[in-house]
Amino acid sequence: MTECVIIDGKARADALRASVTAQVARLRAEYGLQPGLAVVLVGDDAASQVYVRSKGEQSLAAGMHSVTHRLAVDTSQAELIDLVERLNADPLIHGILVQLPLPAHLDAGAVLERLNPAKDVDGLTMVNAGRLASGLDALTPCTPLGCLILLREALGVLSGRNAVVLGRSILVGRPVAGLLLAENCTVTIAHSKSRDLPSICRQADILVAAVGRPEMVKGDWIKPGAAVIDVGINRVPFRDPVQAALGKTKLVGDVAFKQARQVAGWLTPAPGGVGPMTVACLLRNTLTAAARGAGLDLAAP
Ligand code: GUN
Repeated sequence: MTECVIIDGKARADALRASVTAQVARLRAEYGLQPGLAVVLVGDDAASQVYVRSKGEQSLAAGMHSVTHRLAVDTSQAELIDLVERLNADPLIHGILVQLPLPAHLDAGAVLERLNPAKDVDGLTMVNAGRLASGLDALTPCTPLGCLILLREALGVLSGRNAVVLGRSILVGRPVAGLLLAENCTVTIAHSKSRDLPSICRQADILVAAVGRPEMVKGDWIKPGAAVIDVGINRVPFRDPVQAALGKTKLVGDVAFKQARQVAGWLTPAPGGVGPMTVACLLRNTLTAAARGAGLDLAAP
């Protein structure tokens, strides 16, 4: 049995960001066009604040115009929609991302539907989700795009492979299944109501776990030599009771990493696998949206 390759998502994300940065410089120099990204955060969710800061910093570092709108937790639906409409109309902004989850009093679906699909760099509007589901070109959600880039690099051609996607969220499970289908994989979407998840997963040449359940996928769920992409980021107490009593926590994925690496052919660590690809893909989508808006056909980095 050959050794499992641990996929270095950070290195791949660094390379993608470098390539986006070079294309942004070219757009600015040759066409006077600076891609612009607006990120909207409502409330003070701790994890969202970290993600949003990173999106702002990385877009600036790539040479983009970048604005972050931080709104109070009691912002009304009308105020949020008003901001989205202003960003839709702003010629300096080519990509808009409304960070999820929104506070419970806001209707995320209704807000997302107000986004101009051409600026929907998160790929969450009905237009972009529908285009992906119909096999048409679309702006696609960033984490799924990151998974696909990592899989293509690990496996080369994906056509004909059996892919199992665990999870059916609009942010990850459904779009990742759409992208894998577009690559001519045979795709199964499994979820909390699926019967006998271990045997479904054992069919997979490609297994994408995006369920938000710490270390749910065990070693014996994995087909020997499979490519396993772990999208989960779960905060759990330390197993050591002394550390746990001190309130210490750590991050783990949806896959039991130590078991999985004994069986899989390729495996992403979590954290450090898919996570860094998400922001890099957001930059890529913003570049694509800016170029398309100007009628330019850039080769996607
Ligand atoms: N919250 C966690 N991941 C994401 C993402 O990819 N997009 C948005 N808008 N919110 C998120």
